Order: sequence, then C-alpha cells, then structure tokens
Amino acid sequence: MMYVTRREHFSAAHRLYNPVWDHAKNEAVFGKCNNPAGHGHNYYVEVTVAGEIDPETGYVVDLKELKHIIIEHVIRKVDHRNLNTDVDFLAGVIPTAENIAHGIWMQLVDRIPQGRLHQIRLYETEKNFVDYRGEA
Ligand code: NI
Repeated sequence: MMYVTRREHFSAAHRLYNPVWDHAKNEAVFGKCNNPAGHGHNYYVEVTVAGEIDPETGYVVDLKELKHIIIEHVIRKVDHRNLNTDVDFLAGVIPTAENIAHGIWMQLVDRIPQGRLHQIRLYETEKNFVDYRGEA
C-alpha cells in the first residue's frame, strides 16, 4: 500500500465555547481560547490518500486533481473565515482541531478520485496537531 499526501494551508478565526455552559465553566475549560472576540490560527491540513500504484500512470492519485478537490471543498470554505459562523460543514460544532479535521474528512471522503482517503492531519499550531482516520 502506498500513501500519498497533499499539504494545504488556510488562516481562520475561531472561539472555543460551549453555549450550554456558563461563562465561568467555559473560561475554566477553554481558557484564553474562550476569548469572546476570537483569535486566529495558521492551519495546515495534510490529506493522505492510500492505494496501489496505477501501472499506467505510476500514480496512486493525481495530486493536481487532489489539490483542486481540497481547494474547492475545503480551503475555499475556511480560508479567512470565522469557523464558528461561516462554514457550512462546521455548523453546530465547537471548532476545535478535532472537529475541524472530522469536518474536512467528511468533505473529502467521497470525493477522492483514485485510491481512498486514509488520514486527515490538521496542524492548529506548530506544536499541536490531530489525526483522523475515519470510523474504523
Ligand atoms: Ni485556537
């Protein structure tokens, strides 16, 4: 099995809070990420496709195609947006790295042109990242 990854970047704002909780509990759980005016991150997303090498092309997946799909269905929707309010596939969830990675997976899983989606890795900072590999 071969694994092929495309990396993309977006900048976005978010605020972590649970509307069910009061201010004190949100402050205690989320700390400065609960700042009411929000804050920004430079996110990096790495989309990994698994598959066999196509003997005709030598590719698992055409990265040009994969790039266009990621831009159309993810980056265009999140870049320079407020993740709490502006993104259809994040409606109703707290926009943590975990939930963003899950949302990106759902956007892409049925749109991979060759091979199958293996992993979404989302960097929220240089030091913090999450990996999602689907339900299995
Ligand atoms: Ni944050």
